[in-house]
Amino acid sequence: MNIIDIIDKKRMGKELSEEEINYFIEGYTKDEIPDYQAAALIMAICMNGMNEDEILAMTLAMANSGEKLDLSDISESVVDKHSTGGVGDKVTLIISPIVASLGVPIAKMSGRGLGITGGTVDKLQSIPAYRTDISIEEFKSNVKEIGISLISQTMDLAPADKKIYALRDSIAAVNSIPLIASSIMSKKIAAGSNKIVIDVTYGSGAFMKDKMQAKRLAKAMQEIWKGKDKQITCVISKMEQPLGYSVGNILEVVEAVQALHGQMADDLKEVVITMCVQMLKLAGRTETEKELENQIWEVIHNGKAFEKFVQLAQKQGADASYLYDLNKLEKAPIIVPVISEKNGWVKELNAEKVGKISIDLGAGRKNKTDEIDRRVGIILCKKIGDKVENGECLAYLHANHSEKIDDLVEQLKSAYQIVPETIAKEKIIDEIL
Ligand code: URA
Repeated sequence: MNIIDIIDKKRMGKELSEEEINYFIEGYTKDEIPDYQAAALIMAICMNGMNEDEILAMTLAMANSGEKLDLSDISESVVDKHSTGGVGDKVTLIISPIVASLGVPIAKMSGRGLGITGGTVDKLQSIPAYRTDISIEEFKSNVKEIGISLISQTMDLAPADKKIYALRDSIAAVNSIPLIASSIMSKKIAAGSNKIVIDVTYGSGAFMKDKMQAKRLAKAMQEIWKGKDKQITCVISKMEQPLGYSVGNILEVVEAVQALHGQMADDLKEVVITMCVQMLKLAGRTETEKELENQIWEVIHNGKAFEKFVQLAQKQGADASYLYDLNKLEKAPIIVPVISEKNGWVKELNAEKVGKISIDLGAGRKNKTDEIDRRVGIILCKKIGDKVENGECLAYLHANHSEKIDDLVEQLKSAYQIVPETIAKEKIIDEIL
């Protein structure tokens, strides 16, 4: 077999065999196939797509490229969740302790942010001394003891995906259904999950730009997952504006803690409650959705969900006093308001633009090795459907230096479209598949 023939075949839009896909994944993981040939094949896949058999073969080859975790000794129902990415998406921090406090074990490995989409690991590391890199033994023992552990993907899980993902990011080949589906599902297989709820986002702040693409991605992931003992639910949600009110690592931890105390923006609440209900259902809960919803609000209102988050943070070495007193968390040295020059209603708040501004502030990485500043980001005061008056604050930029700040203020103003007529607030979840 020869990589040039494989690239040529995909360039011509033909189907690759399982052997050819295995040959590529193995060769690239072992550095036997160079980046330039891998880039050519990945771009050909991006342009010409893959059928279901090819996507499955690619997923399994990537899942088998490294170690695989077995979580069956923890419980029959370890339910995992994933989001295909978003701006201001702090949902994992909120739903994991809620679901764990309702008795469903959460053993989750999360990633760092890349591009405009944030990562849970960067947010967890904003809690002073929180260790995301504990051993697999400690990870499992924490789940057994307190019912929850959230860590980074430190072990050698799906290393082929890590290489291919970084390559895709550098050659503008992230936005491809077969590549996203195989990337996510290979990690889920390697992480030992069998029941997963995936938030499949679409819109300006997501990889999928419209609902049809999001549904095709959901279907591709469901095709991979069908089979004995495996369950998957896909929640299709809009990511046109950032989720909730904050974007940036410490700022999002603050919003997550407030959410665990019951204060949530409408869009965040919709995603949190829906994802929790779907996770509880996959865990085998037979109550009606309304009953599950009541149970979720009960653990929020009686403090059990927040206490579970505190327990998680302490178990992973963090100083939980920061969660009890959020004012202790570090703040950005410069906080600049963004003032509206118009009267009207917010029609658009472009998540992609907000995500790019947050990267320029230093909250996210432009390159994999960049250091981030966990203090910086954006607090939104107005979201789609809100009434705005001339002179009112639209948002605050939290920055670490004043250089370029006027430009960022203007950019954030341009992310808002304010119109004279009233704009209705829309639900953001379209469908559950
Ligand atoms: N999340 C992933 O894990 N992989 C992708 O390709 C896109 C989003």
